[in-house]
Amino acid sequence: MAENTIIIGAYWGDEGKGKIVDLLAADADWVARFNGGDNAGHTIVAEGKKTILHILPSGAVQGKNVAIGPDVFVNPEALLKDLQSVKDYKGRIVVDERAHVIMPYHLTLDDGGKLGTTKRGIGPAAEDRASRTRDITFSDLISEKFKEKLHGVLKEKELMLRNTGLNSMADYENEIYRTSNEYASRVRQLTGNAGLELHNAIQRGEKVILEGAQGALLDIVHGTRPYVTSSNTTAGGAFANLGLNPRHFKVVGIAKAYPTRVGEGPFPTELKNELGRRIQEDGHEFGATTGRPRKAGMPDFVALRYSARINSFDEIAVTKLDVLAGKEFTAAVKYEKGGETTENFPFRLEGWQPVYGKTYYFESFTEAEAERMCKEGYTSLPEGMREYLEDVAAAIKTPISMVSLSPKREITVVKDALEETRKCLTWLM
Ligand code: GDP
Ligand code: IMO
Ligand code: MG
Repeated sequence: MAENTIIIGAYWGDEGKGKIVDLLAADADWVARFNGGDNAGHTIVAEGKKTILHILPSGAVQGKNVAIGPDVFVNPEALLKDLQSVKDYKGRIVVDERAHVIMPYHLTLDDGGKLGTTKRGIGPAAEDRASRTRDITFSDLISEKFKEKLHGVLKEKELMLRNTGLNSMADYENEIYRTSNEYASRVRQLTGNAGLELHNAIQRGEKVILEGAQGALLDIVHGTRPYVTSSNTTAGGAFANLGLNPRHFKVVGIAKAYPTRVGEGPFPTELKNELGRRIQEDGHEFGATTGRPRKAGMPDFVALRYSARINSFDEIAVTKLDVLAGKEFTAAVKYEKGGETTENFPFRLEGWQPVYGKTYYFESFTEAEAERMCKEGYTSLPEGMREYLEDVAAAIKTPISMVSLSPKREITVVKDALEETRKCLTWLM
């Protein structure tokens, strides 16, 4: 059986999942998104071009077949826009018939609120899914009974919509019906059964990558509630939602060299100083979806350990190491509150303070030097960088298979990384 891979963000999103999925997509037949919606922004820099995809799996850039699973909230407009940004795309696209459609009223009702959402309608669409009567799936969108379904849903929502200042429900309904029909005619051919397609591909020995959106700490169940998104961002959720066998997949966590967070919510190692500002600037930490500045923090082994446990990471990729070059930094090894310490990420973070371990430093390097390190492999990385990487591996008892040194696809160290970081785990045991 071919080895399939699932890619999971290890912190609060924007870890560089798009870059790593695109890199791995070279040997894949299918790449599937399994959660979220166009709240995600995945950046791919390859062949001198930057592409930002919001809903279409990153494998589309390499022309792979792509699928969108049932736990994805799809705004058809965002999907069609993404399709335009990968011109000449010839692969197959399957959007699951169970996937939920983001409707115009979901956008109206998602004002960012106290959670600081991306305003892409994800929360309101997820509420409708939970209602089981007000949800609109792709299967509904392309059905002959769509008009009836839409009418029933809008009847149920009438009071709420009138509160947003809407006057004529009839005009509103007609307009939504017209645009939905337009979308339906364009997505009808794409609608199918994503889980079955992927299952069959795996049975045929084809290689599948599952691409997570957001990060483990934004998971609706395991994340820093209530400051989370509305879908499962963790590996178990992906298998449950696509109906795939976890034993067919290797789980790869994408651990940015330092965490970032957009929107509201606790962030124990947040840097509110000059170092944080330099990381934000050098890492271009501005949202790929909303353009909002991302808060940056010190590396957090407590959060990573939690993420590794709840996802069962087999390996991790550490990205954006270049951003930490030339900066002295440290990492949280445990948390402390009123004299009590823990190495386990608490559900309620209030009052817990990070306790930092040793200091790390390595010199800045040029792109040419990064290219040389990629050719020569892991052992050619600066000593201070390896010390940090090996401490990450040891802290979460997970080897590192990829080290990313630039946004560019090819500037990623793969050679010898797993072998070398496994060694330091062996002598830990
Ligand atoms: P995703 O949501 O996890 O796919 O990540 P985003 O694309 O939202 O944000 C990651 C940003 O970092 C993008 O601008 C990437 O081009 C960039 N990036 C990815 N890997 C690296 C890296 O190793 N170094 C640097 N400097 N940038 C990177
Ligand atoms: P990618 O896939 C970073 C955050 C929002 C907000 C919270 C809830 O690019 O890593 P939502 O719109 O989902 O209801 O907002 O989740 N959020 C993300 N932060 N990267 C993302 O996606 C995110 N998707 C949602 O900022 O705090
Ligand atoms: Mg992103």
